[in-house]
Formats: sequence, structure tokens, C-alpha cells
Amino acid sequence: MNIILFGPPGAGKGTQGELAAERLDLVRLSTGDLLREARTEGTDLGQKAQRYMDAGELVPDSVILGIVREVMEAQSHRAGFIFDGFPRTETQAAGLADMMDEVGTSLDAVVVLDVADETLVRRLAGRLSCAKCGVVYNRHFEPPREEGKCDVCGSALVQRADDREETVRRRLEVYREQTAPVLDWYEGAGVAIHHIAGDRPIDAVQADLTALLSA
Ligand code: AP5
Repeated sequence: MNIILFGPPGAGKGTQGELAAERLDLVRLSTGDLLREARTEGTDLGQKAQRYMDAGELVPDSVILGIVREVMEAQSHRAGFIFDGFPRTETQAAGLADMMDEVGTSLDAVVVLDVADETLVRRLAGRLSCAKCGVVYNRHFEPPREEGKCDVCGSALVQRADDREETVRRRLEVYREQTAPVLDWYEGAGVAIHHIAGDRPIDAVQADLTALLSA
């Protein structure tokens, strides 16, 4: 099974994708996480991506398609993928379709998490993540037991550089202008598109997502 988790920044793609991948034994492929890893490691790719990410702009399609191809080729796990934050342009959607054709597989569905803008801004402004193990928290909605410390490993929690208010606003604009139209592309391609109300507690959203993917 191959699924795209779609939605604006802060919709909960990472949170839901991680839970669903574990439950359904799928591989979660997050282009945002791959780019952040490359930045932390200081690779050429990470350095190239940094200025786009910090400005809330999209990293060029050729770079993104290159890293997705690498992960898909290296992945021996054949159960399937949950794509998180990819594709974000029509060129990326067409590139993914070609890669899937090459390996004789296809996309089963696009699942859109719908969340109101004011909630997105609040979620992103409150997001904290562990600098060491990557667990994600939220100051307002999912606080750690002890302020500023990871529940799992005790390391310091940090805010993502692109979660500053000004950058969040640009990311939302970029989503509307460049990424939302990808849904029309999938509609034209005849791929099933499902909407889930993402503006509810994490467990409720997860229950709907699991039911949908298990059906
Ligand atoms: P990326 O990392 O993909 O960021 P994003 O799409 O903007 O998504 P986020 O990670 O901000 O949000 P999310 O939907 O995953 O929400 P989350 O679960 O974390 O991309 C970052 C940048 O990399 C891009 O701007 C771009 O520059 C570049 N990039 C990446 N992919 C690219 C591509 N394909 N093409 C070009 N460029 C690319 O949740 C957010 C917060 O809300 C958390 O604190 C969480 O705890 C909380 N939360 C989640 N769900 C709930 C809930 N139901 N109730 C209450 N709180 C909740």
C-alpha cells in the first residue's frame, strides 16, 4: 500500500504518519525529515536546502526527486510507503508516478488532513522537538512532562527555525499557491482522495486514518 499524507504545514502529517506507519508496518518517507538530517550532517544537499527551508520556500524539484529516488531504491521494505510532505508540486507528483511505474507499483490514495489556518499557526508556534531523539511535542497541545526536556531521553527541546511566525505565514502561502493544486493533478489522474478532519485530538484523527487505511 502506498499513501500520500497531504495537508498544510502543521496539519499533523508527521504525527499521524509516524503512528500509522508503525501500526500498518509501512515506511514513512518524510522529505522534510530527510532534508533536516542532511542539514544536521552538513552534507552538500543539506547546505543547498538550508536557504530555501529557512525562508519557507520549496527546495527545487530536482533535489527532492533525487532524494526520494535514493530512499525508494535503498528500501528493501516492500509493504509500501506513507509519503509525508511529498509531493509538493505537480512536477514532483509526476516524478513519483514515474518512479512507481518503474518498480511496478502504484499509489492507492491521497489522504488530506484539513485544519483551519489559525490552528495551524498555533500548533507550529508551539511545536518543540527533541534535539537528540527527534520526538515532537507541543507547548499548547502535547506538552512534555517537564518543561523544555524530552520525556523519552531527557535532552533539551528546541524550536524549528522555520516555525517563526513570519516564516510560518510564508509556508502557508507557498502551500496554497504551489502545493494545494497538486490535489487537482491527482483528481485528474483518477487517484482516490479522502479528507479527514485534522482539527481534533490526535487519537481521534489516528482512529479515522487507521480505519480508512485498513478498509
Ligand atoms: P516539512 O518538514 O515537510 O514541513 P511541513 O509540511 O511544513 O509540515 P510540518 O512538519 O510543519 O507539519 P506536519 O503537518 O508534519 O505537522 P506535525 O505532525 O509536525 O518541510 C519543511 C521544509 O522543507 C519546507 O518548508 C520546504 O522548505 C522543505 N521541503 C520539505 N519537503 C519538500 C518537498 N517535497 N518539496 C520542496 N521542499 C520541501 O504537527 C505540528 C505540531 O502540531 C506538533 O507540535 C504536534 O505535536 C502538533 N499536533 C499535531 N497534530 C495535532 C492534533 N491533532 N492536535 C493538537 N496538536 C497536534
